[in-house]
Amino acid sequence: VKRLNVLVVGASGMLGSDLVSELQGRGHEVAGPSSRELDITDPTSVARLAAGEFGEFEWLINCAAYTAVDRAEAEVDQAIALNALAPGYLARACALSGKKLLHVSTDFVFDGEAGEPYTEEAPTNPLGVYGRTKRQGEEAVLATGPFLVCRTAWLYGPRGHCFPKTMIKAWIAEKPLRVVSDQFGNPTFTGDLARVLGDLVERDPFPGIYHTAGPEVLDWREFAVRTLEAYQEVTQQTLDRNPRELVSAIATADWPTPAKRPPFSALSFEKAAALGVAPMRPVHDALRDFVRRLEL
Ligand SMILES: NC(=O)c1ccc[n+]([C@@H]2O[C@H](COP(=O)([O-])OP(=O)(O)OC[C@H]3O[C@@H](n4cnc5c(N)ncnc54)[C@H](OP(=O)(O)O)[C@@H]3O)[C@@H](O)[C@H]2O)c1
Repeated sequence: VKRLNVLVVGASGMLGSDLVSELQGRGHEVAGPSSRELDITDPTSVARLAAGEFGEFEWLINCAAYTAVDRAEAEVDQAIALNALAPGYLARACALSGKKLLHVSTDFVFDGEAGEPYTEEAPTNPLGVYGRTKRQGEEAVLATGPFLVCRTAWLYGPRGHCFPKTMIKAWIAEKPLRVVSDQFGNPTFTGDLARVLGDLVERDPFPGIYHTAGPEVLDWREFAVRTLEAYQEVTQQTLDRNPRELVSAIATADWPTPAKRPPFSALSFEKAAALGVAPMRPVHDALRDFVRRLEL
């Protein structure tokens, strides 16, 4: 494989940090400027990218986003700046300077009413500010040049806030665990997604949208149960009750949140698989890896 020069935006984030390690592990040259060095909401700052101020690179991978789904309902301007406008600035800078761009997006561009895994061609219909602004970002990227948009879902990783970490902490604190069981999606481990994104940039596929999420469709309660099972196995702790009894199922209606979420947002991996990209590992294996690397 040819050695690539990659600039990762959002390198300090949950996905970005694993992506930097993955690409470096494959022998690629990686730069990951901080949000202070390169503020992507500032067009002047992004123009310095195109002028070569952050060094030479062939690929730009954008992992930066406004990811607080509920807070976005109130902080609309920040979500627009980071999710809708900034990807357009990055795309223009890449188009002007002849760089390749891979932009990361989300399953929340869908309304979750389809009842079967979404393909890349499925019509979007975001339900909230986060999903709407992410969709606008996708559109800006796709309209500007021959770029890649990789949608992922239900991310978890050792760096940053994520659902499995919250579950483990709550369990350690002996809090009652009540989790919604009527929303379904693909839990996706950042380490595995980083591998898939690495495979994609190395293949340099036909531009467009790619769905890149984990191979299993779970509801949140089942994801919580699997998380605690993996935690028990890896830390060799025995509980007085097994996780399946410990985590009780509730309905979305019993857990009101500011943002409405898609009830079924599974993403089909078929298009990426057709390029020869291997699917991600089963949740059980990925969760064990996650627990081993976890810093609470
Ligand atoms: N989390 C999920 O469950 C989930 C699900 C589906 C899709 N996604 C998508 O996956 C991608 C990665 O998400 P994540 O959860 O890994 O994100 P994250 O942990 O919230 O990280 C966000 C990153 O964006 C950077 N950033 C914030 N404002 C910036 C600015 N003005 N200029 C440059 N960088 C800025 C942050 O840097 P600082 O630390 O310096 O602020 C941080 O590195 C995003 O596109 C997200 O929409 C996430």
